[in-house]
Amino acid sequence: MGVVVISGGTNGMGRAFALERAELGDRVLVLGRNRERGEALAGGSITFLPVDLSSVTETRQVIEEILTRYQVVDALTLFANRLAPRRTLTTEGLERTFALYYLSRYLLSFGLRPALDQATAPVIVNIAGVGVTKGAVHWTDPQLAAGYSTITAQLQAGRANDLLGVGFAQRSGSRARYVLYHPGFTKSGDRSPLPLALRGLLAMASLVARPVADAVAPIHQFLDTPPTAPLTAVDRGKQLPLSLPTLDPRNAARLMDLTEKLLN
Ligand SMILES: NC(=O)c1ccc[n+]([C@@H]2O[C@H](COP(=O)([O-])OP(=O)(O)OC[C@H]3O[C@@H](n4cnc5c(N)ncnc54)[C@H](OP(=O)(O)O)[C@@H]3O)[C@@H](O)[C@H]2O)c1
Repeated sequence: MGVVVISGGTNGMGRAFALERAELGDRVLVLGRNRERGEALAGGSITFLPVDLSSVTETRQVIEEILTRYQVVDALTLFANRLAPRRTLTTEGLERTFALYYLSRYLLSFGLRPALDQATAPVIVNIAGVGVTKGAVHWTDPQLAAGYSTITAQLQAGRANDLLGVGFAQRSGSRARYVLYHPGFTKSGDRSPLPLALRGLLAMASLVARPVADAVAPIHQFLDTPPTAPLTAVDRGKQLPLSLPTLDPRNAARLMDLTEKLLN
């Protein structure tokens, strides 16, 4: 049993996964923003670390805190995301979806490397939308100043997370195996930021969505028996070829360069 870090562990799939890992005997570090939900989860083998993951500064601080307190991290699972109906900038001047859904995952993946590399079989699971081919990184305008929609921002960050997996395997030099996992349409997800009519439609569609327990089940396997390959992509039960255009190594290198520059 080991130490498992869960970003976005206060709600939805992350929360369910946190409870299941604690039940299995892991020490679980839950990262989330909602203090009430986080504190309700904390206790026993679950520790709540409050953090706004759309803030680069706060994300870096929580990484330092984890590295100070834990020499070994066995697994990092990345769930945090939130729909943003309007383009908003963080206090650091970054478009919020890009910062939260992509940059926090970049920072946590590379930042926790020293502790991950101390584990026997370290693994990172990035829960996003691998296999989706819609959307793209807007290379000259990643902050989407010229044209924003909730979907454009979600798809851009989703495709950036696909490339993060490739980039991490290319560049990190880490022993951690990287898994990109698409859970499929699931009975979870905070829809409160959306307009009422859209929420109603999604509530109806949710009747056919996957139960949360089914969506997170494969993630346990990734932790318990990490793949041997540096990068694995799975859409629900199906392993995807790494030759997908959305996993292009040149685009991954380009995004890693862009991100390093942005964060400097
Ligand atoms: N649900 C689906 O149908 C579906 C389908 C495909 C892919 N996915 C992907 O699966 C992942 C998990 O989705 P979910 O349905 O479980 O989402 P969810 O229920 O909305 O949970 C999102 C989590 O992210 C956290 N979060 C949001 N903003 C944050 C911030 N600024 N700082 C820190 N934490 C923050 C939330 O924490 P607080 O509550 O503390 O704010 C919550 O713990 C996401 O990446 C999503 O894109 C979901």
